[in-house]
Order: sequence, then structure tokens, then C-alpha cells
Amino acid sequence: MTSSSVSSLLRLSFCLFILQVMNIGTCHAATRIYHFKVQTMRLTRLCQTKEIVTINGKFPGPAITAQEDDNIVVNVINMTPYNATIHWHGIKQKLSCWYDGPSYITQCPIQSGQSFTYNFTVAQQKGTFFWHAHFSWLRATVYGPLIVYPKANVPYPFKKPFKEHTILLGEYWLKNVVELEKHVLESGGPPPPADAFTINGQPGPNYNCSSKDVYEIEIAPRKTYLLRLINAGINMESFFTIANHRLTIVEVDGEYTKPFTTERVMLVPGQTMNVLLTADQPIGRYSIAMGPYESAKNVKFQHTSAIASLRYFGAFPNSVASPAKLPVFNDNIAVKTVMDGLRSLKTVDVPEDVDAHLFITVGVNVNKCNSENPNNKCQGPRQGRLAASMNNISFNEPKVSILEAYYKKLEGYFTLDFPTVPEKSYDFVNGAPNDIANDTQAANGTRAMVFEYGSRIQIIFQNTGTLTTENHPIHLHGHSFYVIGYGTGNYDHRTARFNLEDPPYLNTIGVPVGGWAAIRFVADNPGLWLLHCHFDIHQTWGMSTMFIVKNGKTVVESLPQPPADLPQC
Ligand code: C2O
Ligand code: CU
Repeated sequence: MTSSSVSSLLRLSFCLFILQVMNIGTCHAATRIYHFKVQTMRLTRLCQTKEIVTINGKFPGPAITAQEDDNIVVNVINMTPYNATIHWHGIKQKLSCWYDGPSYITQCPIQSGQSFTYNFTVAQQKGTFFWHAHFSWLRATVYGPLIVYPKANVPYPFKKPFKEHTILLGEYWLKNVVELEKHVLESGGPPPPADAFTINGQPGPNYNCSSKDVYEIEIAPRKTYLLRLINAGINMESFFTIANHRLTIVEVDGEYTKPFTTERVMLVPGQTMNVLLTADQPIGRYSIAMGPYESAKNVKFQHTSAIASLRYFGAFPNSVASPAKLPVFNDNIAVKTVMDGLRSLKTVDVPEDVDAHLFITVGVNVNKCNSENPNNKCQGPRQGRLAASMNNISFNEPKVSILEAYYKKLEGYFTLDFPTVPEKSYDFVNGAPNDIANDTQAANGTRAMVFEYGSRIQIIFQNTGTLTTENHPIHLHGHSFYVIGYGTGNYDHRTARFNLEDPPYLNTIGVPVGGWAAIRFVADNPGLWLLHCHFDIHQTWGMSTMFIVKNGKTVVESLPQPPADLPQC
């Protein structure tokens, strides 16, 4: 722990002390200062030692902790040869879009040897979040928890857990992930599967040379624990389960939910979930398992599950662990069951009227080869090049900060013509997703859509089936949204049922395989926000677009000036 984080901790405990002694209701928000050194480190996993990119030489990275409404300041210095940025996933960045972190969107990357200080407030937010690199596929090793506790004296809406543990689900590659992304993109073909799934950085005994690389949690009999689950995976969605135990979901994406008890959960990359676990089984060891949910057909993926260990105090360290039972990899029903169970804790304030109705298709494309070297460059299906798109526009990442270009009114870097697609014109799942009938070709573009401050927006995300259908984890920066409905097949407004009572309030939604999801939110955060699939491969292929939220009338509704140390491209 750095001296500054120690001092902010001291300040917090002093604050709690004053609260207890003097019995005052509120405590002033604190500033929490962290120093993140982006540095390489040698790590041995799966019988191989390789160099990975880390924060402060830790894998997974260090946890950031704060209390609701605190100010978080993170000085990031990049000591690697790669570009880097950090994104604070799930933090709304109200009026602080400059610190959001996606490279070439809200900032130029922090280049080798450079630094940048992120400075934001976790205003009216509490719960489990995470931070991760937002450049290339660096997130594969550059990620860590960001936990925001309720203010002092504000209880959880459930019985106070005895203790808590954070569990980060990840995907690990033996290859250099920045090179890997480059090669996959060049080849036009699909990415190789991860070499391992990991639980807190450890693959567990199912993998070669990994019988000692097992994460272990120790628990006391009869106590109830809070597990903070974070899916930091790259290209896969994951099931998670614990042998002989049940999990009660109480929070998703940093918002409380009605308690929902289940034997397994599914988390998409970018999703966080708090679950309660009661140690109600005989003293012993129990397996914790993370395995693939793969809804697409004909995709190569890692089948081996990552295993961690849940050990009761008093159990022999070498006792055999009861095996955990994961659903089969394509169990769509298991996924739907969890999704159906997610409800906001209380009745929520869903916008009843909507100012902008959007319909956004999400899918994978096969573009024409257009290369003299098809064997190297067109390794996709039918000698084409794989791509991905929203409304059939494949996002081109520019080499500037778009937010800066927008703020300074620089022309030529992006356009404001992200197309709208009529809802009922096609059979999206079985047929053509675009106006070029039966073609899978996407157009390229760096396009945004503009919203007035305060507009109430509804989006229907529709999965298309040109190549295959699959569940896409769609993530919106700068806002959370109510998931008011979802279903399989083509969205049909005549039959769709919406929940405007207690829908979950999320920042990442797994749009069901071959189906649709409907969200509503108020665009109340001025700036420029990325909307993208949280599979890195789909983002690499272009499944992104940008929303611009204009300033409101007053200063507190307007994006401030850019920080002085904003990196240059
Ligand atoms: Cu975790 Cu742009 O996302
Ligand atoms: Cu996707």
C-alpha cells in the first residue's frame, strides 16, 4: 500500500471514529490518492514464463477502495513500451468525461514514459466496479477491483455479511496480447481461444502445471460472506458456481437487486455481481468453478474450467474438494433463468415517455477480401475478412482523441450520422440485417449520434444472424440504463413486454443470442460516450459507436475544460 493510500485510510478511520464518538450523521467526502505504475513483470503460468503488463507489478491489479461520493485521484505513469489508458468501468464520470479512459475516444493513450492523473468522484454510486486498461487487449492482465462502500452508518439492504471476498474472473493468453490483437486483425480470421480461464489470476488444477496455482478462500462455518464477482474476461462469457452451495444475488453492476438465490450465475465481460454465500455445509473443501458460456456456433473456445477452492476453517488443506457442476457451455436456459431473476430492489424511476427511440443491430460481418494476399489476410469464412458492426457500420478507431476533436470543434475526425434502422423492415435473425440484401458486408465509419441534455432514450438492441447469432455484452460508458425487456428472435413491438416497475439498472447487458434487449435511460451526462461490445475481439472488429450528450443550460450541466496534462497523440 502506498503512503498516500495509507493516509486516506487513516483519514477514513478517523472519520468513522469521529462519527461513532460524536454520533454525527455524515462525514465529509474524502480524496483517495493512488499511484499506478504500468509496468511489465515476468509471470509463470501453465509451465511458461512470460512478460505481462501489470499495475505496480501485481496480477490481478491492486484494489481501489472508496466510499460513496469520495474523490478518487489516480496518477498513472506508463513504464512499458505499449500505449496505455485506464477505464473505471461502471463509474459514471458525471461531468468528468475527460477521465473516462477509452483510448482514442476520450483521450489519447498515455505513451511510453508519460503520465496522466485521473481525477473523478464516485458521486451517488456504491458497489462493486472494476478498472481495466482500455487499449488493445491489455485488459487481459491490466485489471483490478474498484469497490465503493456505502457512507458511514448506511447499512446494506441485507444482513451485514461476516466478511467479504473479491473474485475476478479472467482470461489468460501465453502470447503477447497487443501482438495477438494485431495479428488477428491482419489475418481477417477468428481469434485463438484463451490459454486459460483464471480466478483471481489462477487457473487451477485442470490446467497443465497448475496444481499449485489455485486461489483459495477460507470461510468460517455458519457465517455469511459477500462475494464480489467481477468478469474481467476478454472474449468469453462465463458461468460461475460453487460446489454444494447456493448464491444469493443482491447487487449487479453497482445497484442493489431483489435477493435471488441460484446455484450458478453467468457473468458477461464487464459485468459485476455481489452474491451472498452462507457456509452451511459440513466442514471441508469445495470447488469454485468458472467455465465458458459460448452461444455462437462453430467458434473455437477454451473448454477447460478454472477452479478455485473454498475451504472451511478446520478442513484439512489436502482434503479432496467436492466438485462443482457447471452448466454445459451452450445452456441458454441457465442464462435466461439468471437474467429473469434480476430485478431492482425497489420500484424505480423508469422514464415513461421517450424522446429518442433507437434501434441498433449488433452482429458479426464477413467483408469482401479485397487483398492480393487472401491466404494471409482473408482467413475468415468464405475467404472473407471478419468484422463486426452496429447498424452495419463497423467502427474505425481514429488516431486522435474524439472528445478533444468534438470539444475543440476540429473537423474531419468523425461524423454525426450514425444511421437509424427501421424496426420492422427485416428478419434480422434469419435474414439480411441491412439494405444490401443477403450481403454481409459492413460499411466503415467513425460516427456518433447527438442527444440533447436530459433526453430520455430507448434503445432496442437486436442481434443479427448473418454469420451466426450470439450473446453480445453491450456496455455503455457514462450512464447506467434500465433493462426493461428482452427476448429471442426479432423484436416486435406488438408482442414485446416491458417491465417499467423494477427492471435492473445495469451498465452492461448481455443481449440474448439471436434475440433483443430493450433499455431506457436519461442522457444526463454531457460528453462523448462509447457504446461497445465488451468482447475485445468484437470491439477490435468494430462493434462500437459513440453517443454525444450536449451541455445543458448551466455550468453544472456542462462538460468542463480538458485537464492540462491530457495526453497528446
Ligand atoms: Cu469495460 Cu469500454 O469498457
Ligand atoms: Cu459482441
